Amino acid sequence: MEIHKENPEMVRGLFSDIAGRYQMVNHLLSGGLDFYWRAVAVSLIRSWKPATVLDVATGSGDLAMAIRKARPQARVVGADFCAPMLDVARKNGLPELVVADGMCLPFADQDFDVVTAAFGLRNMASWEKGLSEMARVLKPGGHLLILDFSLPTLPLMRPLYRFYLHNILPHIAGLATGRKDAYEYLGVSIEQFPSGNTMTSLINSCGFRNAKAYPLTLGTVSIYTATRT
Ligand SMILES: C[S@@+](CC[C@H](N)C(=O)[O-])C[C@H]1O[C@@H](n2cnc3c(N)ncnc32)[C@H](O)[C@@H]1O
Repeated sequence: MEIHKENPEMVRGLFSDIAGRYQMVNHLLSGGLDFYWRAVAVSLIRSWKPATVLDVATGSGDLAMAIRKARPQARVVGADFCAPMLDVARKNGLPELVVADGMCLPFADQDFDVVTAAFGLRNMASWEKGLSEMARVLKPGGHLLILDFSLPTLPLMRPLYRFYLHNILPHIAGLATGRKDAYEYLGVSIEQFPSGNTMTSLINSCGFRNAKAYPLTLGTVSIYTATRT
């Protein structure tokens, strides 16, 4: 079965099927680097001293949990449109969870100090709608943080990385989850997702200013931050 981000039902079904193994496969495929990526994200978030944080597409809640640990006094809400992924987040100890589409969030305007999305925006049918909705629920001057995959910054690394992404990763993940197609979709979605200056321009066009990109791990992952206008 081919999966397209334009079909939210397929994306939701895919995450429902792999929910139980999602975290284990993440740690396996990233070689544990996902802990490091979240730690960098959390160090930026901590410096903003938020009282309220919304983690959109929270999934198993890894980033939201890391934020709670770093900033126990903050209210951290996790939202995701896939209930089985939120069941995993609940078991992981995240108390405030909402089943919601990131492109139509059930929160009032200007509700949060910080909005985050880790490996979630890429899966949304419209990146512009997702970002604009994040801007809507942020207070003016509030902070956005996006953590997601990107293609290596060094052109020489790209063919090697693409080989891993399209020819090795789906086989390993397919064995672990029984959904090889899900991880073929991962590679396609990474190829299509904007990065670097293209991404910062997109963010700035959706209600933000001063968007910055921080490539990590040879550019295979990037953090983007921006301020709500
Ligand atoms: C790759 S997982 C990331 C989970 C988690 N944030 C992490 O860092 O591991 C992507 C998550 O995005 C969610 N998602 C995709 N599209 C969404 C949308 N339109 N609204 C809400 N959640 C969405 C999926 O259900 C899934 O849980």
